[in-house]
Formats: sequence, C-alpha cells, structure tokens
Amino acid sequence: MLEKVNHIAIAVPDLSKAILNYKNTFNCKISKPLKLLDHGVTTAFISLQNTNIELLEPLGKNSPIRRFLERNNNGGIHHICYEVKDINLSIKNLIKNNCKILGDGIPREGAHGKPVIFIHPSNFNGTLIELEQT
Ligand code: CO
Repeated sequence: MLEKVNHIAIAVPDLSKAILNYKNTFNCKISKPLKLLDHGVTTAFISLQNTNIELLEPLGKNSPIRRFLERNNNGGIHHICYEVKDINLSIKNLIKNNCKILGDGIPREGAHGKPVIFIHPSNFNGTLIELEQT
C-alpha cells in the first residue's frame, strides 16, 4: 500500500530564514514559497535525489502547526508523507484498522495539487502521517 516517501516535513518559525539557511549551508534547490490557505501553512520544497523536504510555516491564526511550534520553538520534524496509488482504497483500509483520519476524512488537495489525507499520530507511534495519491 505504501510506495515512496514523497517528503518529510519540517515546521519552522520563519520560512525565509529557513530557506536561506538551507541555501547557504547546503546549496539546495528550493521551490518558491506557496501559501496553502486550506491547510493553514506556507510551504517550500527542497528537492533531493530520492525525496523532498517540505518546510512549513504557519499561515493564519488557526494554523494546525501553531501548537506544534509553541512546543518546539525552533521548529522540528512535523510529518512524513508517503505516496499511495489509490487514496480511497487507503482510506477504506485505515477505517477497517480503526485509524483516525484528521478533519472530515475526505481527501483535500495538497501542496502538489494531488489528494492528501493525514492520519492521527496516535495510530503510528506518535508520527503524523500524510498520504498522497500519486
Ligand atoms: Co506534507
């Protein structure tokens, strides 16, 4: 059911600072910041050969990563995104296995314009998991 790791997401308090830090230190290619109003975050992607790193900055008062940054002032690893071929089949399996899907459980458009869902961290050893249909 799980294919590749699409990205590992890191929450940051200041996106432009984080971008500069990765650029200057590692000479990374980083996408332009993208505001995702639906998700309450601004994202920028670092492309690596085998996966991507998503830098996340809170957008708006009700951003889901605000609380995370209150607990982790300097930022930290926030979620892992796995690719799946069929997100609706994945949702069926998750429900069958008593996993809690965040929000209304309906896939929303993610940072790549593809449907995504998030699984509650309590289901997978404290790790917030995003599934993205490829
Ligand atoms: Co993500």
